[in-house]
Amino acid sequence: MGKTLIMDHPLVKHKITLLRDVNTGTKEFRTLVGEISMLMGYEAMRELPTELVEVTTPIAVTKQPALKQSKLTIVPILRAGLGMVSGLLSLVPTAKVGHIGLARDEATHQPYEYYCKLPRNISELTVILPDPMLATGGSAIHAVNFIKSKGCRDIKFMCIIAAPEGLKALREAHPDIDIFVGCLDEGLNENAYIVPGLGDAGDRIFGTL
Ligand code: PRP
Ligand code: URA
Repeated sequence: MGKTLIMDHPLVKHKITLLRDVNTGTKEFRTLVGEISMLMGYEAMRELPTELVEVTTPIAVTKQPALKQSKLTIVPILRAGLGMVSGLLSLVPTAKVGHIGLARDEATHQPYEYYCKLPRNISELTVILPDPMLATGGSAIHAVNFIKSKGCRDIKFMCIIAAPEGLKALREAHPDIDIFVGCLDEGLNENAYIVPGLGDAGDRIFGTL
Protein backbone atom coordinates (compact mmCIF):
# COMPACT_ATOMS: atom_id res chain seq x y z
CA MET A 1 0.00 0.00 0.00
CA GLY A 2 1.41 3.39 -1.00
CA LYS A 3 1.34 6.36 1.33
CA THR A 4 -0.99 9.33 1.04
CA LEU A 5 0.46 12.51 2.48
CA ILE A 6 -1.56 15.71 2.76
CA MET A 7 0.74 18.64 3.51
CA ASP A 8 0.32 20.37 6.83
CA HIS A 9 3.20 22.84 6.62
CA PRO A 10 2.15 26.48 7.14
CA LEU A 11 4.34 27.66 4.25
CA VAL A 12 2.54 25.33 1.84
CA LYS A 13 -0.86 26.38 3.20
CA HIS A 14 0.01 30.08 2.92
CA LYS A 15 1.28 29.81 -0.64
CA ILE A 16 -1.75 27.76 -1.77
CA THR A 17 -4.03 30.47 -0.33
CA LEU A 18 -2.19 33.08 -2.43
CA LEU A 19 -2.47 30.81 -5.48
CA ARG A 20 -6.25 30.55 -5.13
CA ASP A 21 -6.77 34.32 -5.19
CA VAL A 22 -8.44 35.39 -8.44
CA ASN A 23 -6.28 38.56 -8.31
CA THR A 24 -3.01 36.60 -8.38
CA GLY A 25 -1.54 37.25 -11.85
CA THR A 26 0.38 34.89 -14.12
CA LYS A 27 3.87 35.91 -12.98
CA GLU A 28 3.12 35.45 -9.27
CA PHE A 29 1.09 32.31 -9.97
CA ARG A 30 4.06 30.67 -11.72
CA THR A 31 6.41 31.66 -8.93
CA LEU A 32 4.07 30.23 -6.29
CA VAL A 33 3.58 26.96 -8.20
CA GLY A 34 7.36 26.62 -8.37
CA GLU A 35 7.82 27.32 -4.66
CA ILE A 36 5.03 24.93 -3.59
CA SER A 37 6.44 22.22 -5.85
CA MET A 38 9.83 22.62 -4.23
CA LEU A 39 8.38 22.39 -0.72
CA MET A 40 6.31 19.34 -1.66
CA GLY A 41 9.26 17.80 -3.50
CA TYR A 42 11.21 17.87 -0.26
CA GLU A 43 8.65 15.42 1.17
CA ALA A 44 8.21 13.36 -2.00
CA MET A 45 11.97 12.80 -2.25
CA ARG A 46 12.40 11.72 1.37
CA GLU A 47 12.99 8.08 0.42
CA LEU A 48 15.28 8.61 -2.57
CA PRO A 49 18.18 6.15 -2.42
CA THR A 50 21.60 7.38 -1.36
CA GLU A 51 25.05 5.86 -1.61
CA LEU A 52 28.27 6.53 0.26
CA VAL A 53 30.79 8.65 -1.63
CA GLU A 54 34.25 9.73 -0.62
CA VAL A 55 34.67 13.41 0.18
CA THR A 56 37.71 15.29 1.41
CA THR A 57 36.89 17.92 4.00
CA PRO A 58 39.49 20.45 5.20
CA ILE A 59 39.97 18.06 8.14
CA ALA A 60 39.71 14.47 6.86
CA VAL A 61 38.77 12.06 4.08
CA THR A 62 35.35 10.57 4.83
CA LYS A 63 32.52 8.57 3.25
CA GLN A 64 29.16 10.36 3.31
CA PRO A 65 25.72 9.83 1.71
CA ALA A 66 24.93 11.36 -1.68
CA LEU A 67 21.86 10.94 -3.90
CA LYS A 68 21.88 8.25 -6.57
CA GLN A 69 20.78 11.06 -8.87
CA SER A 70 20.33 9.09 -12.04
CA LYS A 71 17.50 7.13 -10.35
CA LEU A 72 14.97 9.98 -10.58
CA THR A 73 12.76 11.14 -13.41
CA ILE A 74 10.10 13.84 -13.36
CA VAL A 75 7.16 13.27 -15.72
CA PRO A 76 4.82 16.29 -15.70
CA ILE A 77 1.30 15.84 -17.01
CA LEU A 78 1.02 18.53 -19.71
CA ARG A 79 0.20 21.25 -19.70
CA ALA A 80 -0.21 22.39 -16.12
CA GLY A 81 2.27 19.89 -14.67
CA LEU A 82 5.02 21.74 -16.56
CA GLY A 83 4.69 24.57 -14.06
CA MET A 84 5.90 22.25 -11.30
CA VAL A 85 9.06 21.01 -13.04
CA SER A 86 11.45 23.88 -12.31
CA GLY A 87 10.76 23.71 -8.55
CA LEU A 88 11.47 19.97 -8.53
CA LEU A 89 14.55 20.32 -10.74
CA SER A 90 15.94 22.95 -8.39
CA LEU A 91 16.12 20.14 -5.80
CA VAL A 92 17.62 17.52 -8.14
CA PRO A 93 19.05 19.32 -11.19
CA THR A 94 20.28 16.09 -12.81
CA ALA A 95 16.86 14.38 -12.84
CA LYS A 96 15.59 13.23 -16.21
CA VAL A 97 12.34 14.78 -17.49
CA GLY A 98 9.69 12.92 -19.51
CA HIS A 99 6.37 14.33 -20.70
CA ILE A 100 2.80 13.04 -20.95
CA GLY A 101 0.32 15.25 -22.77
CA LEU A 102 -3.24 14.80 -21.51
CA ALA A 103 -6.25 17.07 -21.77
CA ARG A 104 -9.79 16.68 -20.48
CA ASP A 105 -12.60 16.65 -23.00
CA GLU A 106 -14.74 19.63 -21.96
CA ALA A 107 -18.03 17.73 -22.32
CA THR A 108 -17.21 14.26 -21.00
CA HIS A 109 -14.35 15.30 -18.64
CA GLN A 110 -12.49 12.20 -19.86
CA PRO A 111 -8.75 12.60 -20.52
CA TYR A 112 -7.25 12.03 -23.96
CA GLU A 113 -3.56 11.68 -24.74
CA TYR A 114 -1.83 13.87 -27.35
CA TYR A 115 1.90 13.54 -26.62
CA CYS A 116 4.33 11.27 -24.82
CA LYS A 117 8.11 11.12 -24.51
CA LEU A 118 9.74 9.20 -21.66
CA PRO A 119 13.32 8.28 -20.73
CA ARG A 120 14.27 4.94 -22.30
CA ASN A 121 15.14 3.24 -19.00
CA ILE A 122 12.06 4.50 -17.14
CA SER A 123 11.26 1.06 -15.68
CA GLU A 124 14.41 1.32 -13.52
CA LEU A 125 13.66 4.82 -12.26
CA THR A 126 11.68 6.49 -9.51
CA VAL A 127 9.00 8.57 -11.27
CA ILE A 128 7.56 11.77 -9.83
CA LEU A 129 4.36 12.64 -11.67
CA PRO A 130 3.37 16.27 -10.99
CA ASP A 131 0.04 17.84 -11.93
CA PRO A 132 -1.34 20.79 -9.94
CA MET A 133 -4.95 19.53 -10.00
CA LEU A 134 -6.50 16.16 -9.13
CA ALA A 135 -10.20 16.66 -9.93
CA THR A 136 -12.11 13.54 -11.08
CA GLY A 137 -8.81 11.64 -11.08
CA GLY A 138 -9.21 10.60 -14.73
CA SER A 139 -5.99 12.25 -15.94
CA ALA A 140 -3.85 10.98 -13.06
CA ILE A 141 -5.21 7.42 -13.39
CA HIS A 142 -4.56 7.46 -17.13
CA ALA A 143 -1.00 8.77 -16.63
CA VAL A 144 -0.18 6.17 -13.96
CA ASN A 145 -1.65 3.37 -16.14
CA PHE A 146 0.63 4.52 -18.93
CA ILE A 147 3.76 4.77 -16.77
CA LYS A 148 3.05 1.31 -15.33
CA SER A 149 2.60 -0.12 -18.84
CA LYS A 150 6.27 0.90 -19.40
CA GLY A 151 7.28 -1.34 -16.49
CA CYS A 152 7.68 1.36 -13.88
CA ARG A 153 6.73 0.47 -10.29
CA ASP A 154 8.14 3.27 -8.11
CA ILE A 155 5.65 6.09 -8.77
CA LYS A 156 4.91 9.22 -6.75
CA PHE A 157 1.99 11.38 -7.86
CA MET A 158 2.05 14.98 -6.66
CA CYS A 159 -0.74 17.57 -6.86
CA ILE A 160 -1.21 20.97 -5.28
CA ILE A 161 -5.02 20.71 -4.88
CA ALA A 162 -7.13 17.54 -4.84
CA ALA A 163 -10.86 16.88 -4.71
CA PRO A 164 -11.85 14.01 -2.40
CA GLU A 165 -13.49 12.27 -5.40
CA GLY A 166 -10.25 12.31 -7.38
CA LEU A 167 -8.09 11.21 -4.48
CA LYS A 168 -10.44 8.27 -3.78
CA ALA A 169 -10.52 7.25 -7.45
CA LEU A 170 -6.73 7.43 -7.83
CA ARG A 171 -6.13 5.52 -4.60
CA GLU A 172 -8.61 2.78 -5.62
CA ALA A 173 -7.13 2.47 -9.12
CA HIS A 174 -3.53 2.49 -7.88
CA PRO A 175 -3.24 1.34 -4.25
CA ASP A 176 0.54 0.92 -4.57
CA ILE A 177 1.69 4.44 -5.55
CA ASP A 178 2.60 7.29 -3.18
CA ILE A 179 0.34 10.33 -3.39
CA PHE A 180 1.34 13.81 -2.17
CA VAL A 181 -1.40 16.44 -1.88
CA GLY A 182 -0.89 20.11 -1.07
CA CYS A 183 -4.49 20.66 0.06
CA LEU A 184 -7.65 18.52 0.02
CA ASP A 185 -10.60 20.67 -1.06
CA GLU A 186 -14.38 20.31 -0.65
CA GLY A 187 -15.38 18.63 -3.92
CA LEU A 188 -16.26 19.12 -7.56
CA ASN A 189 -18.82 21.39 -9.20
CA GLU A 190 -21.08 20.47 -12.15
CA ASN A 191 -18.22 21.15 -14.61
CA ALA A 192 -15.87 18.87 -12.66
CA TYR A 193 -13.86 21.87 -11.40
CA ILE A 194 -12.50 21.74 -7.88
CA VAL A 195 -14.33 23.86 -5.26
CA PRO A 196 -13.01 26.21 -3.96
CA GLY A 197 -9.95 25.29 -6.05
CA LEU A 198 -8.07 27.87 -8.07
CA GLY A 199 -9.79 27.65 -11.46
CA ASP A 200 -8.02 26.26 -14.52
CA ALA A 201 -4.41 25.70 -13.48
CA GLY A 202 -3.04 25.49 -17.05
CA ASP A 203 -4.71 28.72 -18.09
CA ARG A 204 -3.46 30.53 -14.99
CA ILE A 205 0.13 29.27 -15.41
CA PHE A 206 0.32 30.05 -19.12
CA GLY A 207 -1.89 33.15 -19.22
CA THR A 208 -4.39 31.64 -21.65
CA LEU A 209 -7.49 32.71 -19.73
C1 PRP B 1 -6.24 19.75 -15.79
C2 PRP B 1 -5.23 19.40 -14.72
C3 PRP B 1 -5.25 17.90 -14.74
C4 PRP B 1 -6.70 17.60 -15.04
C5 PRP B 1 -7.39 17.22 -13.77
O1 PRP B 1 -5.70 19.63 -17.06
O2 PRP B 1 -3.97 19.96 -14.96
O3 PRP B 1 -4.41 17.33 -15.72
O4 PRP B 1 -7.27 18.80 -15.56
O5 PRP B 1 -8.69 16.83 -14.01
P1 PRP B 1 -9.19 15.33 -13.79
O6 PRP B 1 -8.64 14.88 -12.47
O7 PRP B 1 -10.69 15.47 -13.81
O8 PRP B 1 -8.69 14.50 -14.94
P2 PRP B 1 -6.51 20.09 -18.37
O9 PRP B 1 -7.25 18.95 -18.93
O10 PRP B 1 -7.28 21.33 -18.04
O11 PRP B 1 -5.34 20.40 -19.39
P3 PRP B 1 -4.23 21.56 -19.37
O12 PRP B 1 -3.26 21.21 -18.26
O13 PRP B 1 -3.63 21.42 -20.70
O14 PRP B 1 -4.89 22.88 -19.13
N1 URA C 1 -8.49 21.18 -13.98
C1 URA C 1 -8.16 22.39 -13.46
O1 URA C 1 -7.22 23.06 -13.95
N2 URA C 1 -8.87 22.87 -12.44
C2 URA C 1 -9.87 22.17 -11.87
O2 URA C 1 -10.48 22.66 -10.90
C3 URA C 1 -10.19 20.91 -12.40
C4 URA C 1 -9.48 20.44 -13.47
